[in-house]
Amino acid sequence: MLLSGKYIIVTAGPTIEPIDPVRFLSNHSTGKMGYAIAGELARRGARVALVSGRTNLDTPAGTERVDVLSAEDMYRAVMERFPQADGAVMCAAVADYTPAEVSDTKIKKQDGDMVIRLKRTRDIAAEAGRVKGRRILVGFALETDHERENALGKLQRKNLDFIVLNSLRDAGAGFAGDTNKITVIDAAGKVSEYPLETKAAAAARIVDRMEEWFALHE
Ligand code: CTP
Repeated sequence: MLLSGKYIIVTAGPTIEPIDPVRFLSNHSTGKMGYAIAGELARRGARVALVSGRTNLDTPAGTERVDVLSAEDMYRAVMERFPQADGAVMCAAVADYTPAEVSDTKIKKQDGDMVIRLKRTRDIAAEAGRVKGRRILVGFALETDHERENALGKLQRKNLDFIVLNSLRDAGAGFAGDTNKITVIDAAGKVSEYPLETKAAAAARIVDRMEEWFALHE
């Protein structure tokens, strides 16, 4: 198997950014796409660390699951393992902002509106891109408009080898369902569009591309 001996980190699912002990900010990610990729990598012989936000999914066979909550937790779990890894697939929907202050006690309501100040989180994919050396790095982009242009910008900014684009304009693509319609853009700017298919089939395409990359870079 082409991927045996490779150690790959996969991030998946949403992050949870606490406001106080009972409230948080998050998003609609289910983790399905990342779990499908992690399972496919393991089936093809890779050792997989699945760094996962909160999901309702079973751990794919053969993967080591590392549960995290916040973007900061996910950053630490990934960067701790990245030096030993041969690559990473950044599939998680990581919060770009987190509450600047977290209250130790439950915030009580008051008259009138309330403001929660947010600060930027660290970009895990970009940091991995900065120190990636000879590793493979795959990112995701979920876009509603100017899809290819935005995805290409992310690929370059984060020093990725591939970016997998999902457009929210495509029916059947995105978070909740079991299908996806992906477009893969590589670092040379080559664009490959794939049909609407199951997330398992889309995962197999992405892992095929990773295998090809390893075959070329060995
Ligand atoms: N990502 C990450 N760490 C973050 C934010 C994003 O690793 N703190 C990764 C995601 O896992 C994904 C890619 O970066 O692979 C998404 O890029 P990003 O620029 O964050 O996209 P959006 O969240 O869609 O942000 P925006 O469109 O606002 O730039």
